[in-house]
Amino acid sequence: MAAFDIEAIRKDFPILDQLIYDKPLAYLDNAASSQKPVQVIEAIDHYYRKDNANVHRGVHRLSQRATDAYEASRTKVRDFINAKSDKEIVFVRGATEAINLVAQSFVRPQTKAGDEILISHMEHHANIVPWQMLCEQTGAKLRVIPMTEQGELDLTGIDDLLTEQTKILAIGQVSNALGTINPVKMLTEKAHAKNIPVLIDGAQAVPHLSVDVQDLDCDFYVFSGHKMFAPTGIGALYGKQALLEEMPPWQGGGDMILSVSFEHTQYNELPYKFEAGTPHIAGAIGLGAAIDYMQSIGVEKLAKHEHDLLDYATDKLSNMAGVRLIGTAQHKASVLSFLIEGVHPHDVGTIFDQQGVAIRTGHHCAQPVMQFFGIPATARASFAFYNTMDEVDALAAAVVKVQELFA
Ligand code: ALA
Repeated sequence: MAAFDIEAIRKDFPILDQLIYDKPLAYLDNAASSQKPVQVIEAIDHYYRKDNANVHRGVHRLSQRATDAYEASRTKVRDFINAKSDKEIVFVRGATEAINLVAQSFVRPQTKAGDEILISHMEHHANIVPWQMLCEQTGAKLRVIPMTEQGELDLTGIDDLLTEQTKILAIGQVSNALGTINPVKMLTEKAHAKNIPVLIDGAQAVPHLSVDVQDLDCDFYVFSGHKMFAPTGIGALYGKQALLEEMPPWQGGGDMILSVSFEHTQYNELPYKFEAGTPHIAGAIGLGAAIDYMQSIGVEKLAKHEHDLLDYATDKLSNMAGVRLIGTAQHKASVLSFLIEGVHPHDVGTIFDQQGVAIRTGHHCAQPVMQFFGIPATARASFAFYNTMDEVDALAAAVVKVQELFA
């Protein structure tokens, strides 16, 4: 494993080397979307320049090369999250699509009025709305694990929330608005003790933590590529093979069939049963290249550097008068949400931008979290392994600038 050389790493991300309003860019909006290393950009470029063709369809050489590269990426995803088989890895557009697929194909057929879906108060909208839609369709009820002022799950009532009516526990591993790392393995054990299946939303986890779906023993795990240095529009659904086998297809079309007549369609085997239509081939290849890149440095090393950044930033901002941190859980990854007294987060974001510091401001697609804290929005810095301590200093200096302008 190579040493963690931040200067060499930053050279792999050409976008980072630019000025914004004559100030060096400090890109601290990685929870929204991460930047892509040249290795990912070149893998996509190579595919379009040399191998572009449809997958699984042609006997010609280009189609074979495209298929080989696409399927090699599936194997990389399998290894990355330690799934047992390539059949358990379905390429999707992202975590959102994966959750909708599980809601409609796995949960809906076995759900009736009075059943329950259990999520938590700190979920991203993508892990709320598909379940609300399912509840509207079936008459099931959405139940919610509460949270504390620190932004941790309040698990005092968990045994009563997991009931005989619970059809699934759907829970985020890392909160995008607060950065909280949730005890998903323990929750999976608790749910399984009552025969309740578990879906883990890993969108904010895979860029920062090493994930082992066999160790977690979750039934489904979902994530998006673009938050882990891969292109937009590609992600993966992991599902235990026995469950995926039983599930009906979600969308119909090409690639998910073995044979079609007007009387009957025979569906394809896993994982193709869930991949209707021409997939995002270049995206999958880019995702494979992103995994190669992360593994070439070592996920533990990346995580350690990010943790050092988060600790340094938390320490700095928590010691600044007029700054309130939102989300102070004991176990956190990457995310620092905060408020500057007397200044709307959108103004904070605009002034930060003028200092070259890119952060996200708003409700972060987690409005119930904002409602819990009684605030409309936060400013959120979110770190990736290519960020530096100097960029944290730029963040703190931008806070001072806002305070001076609003004094
Ligand atoms: N879910 C993304 C975020 O947290 C868009 O910003």
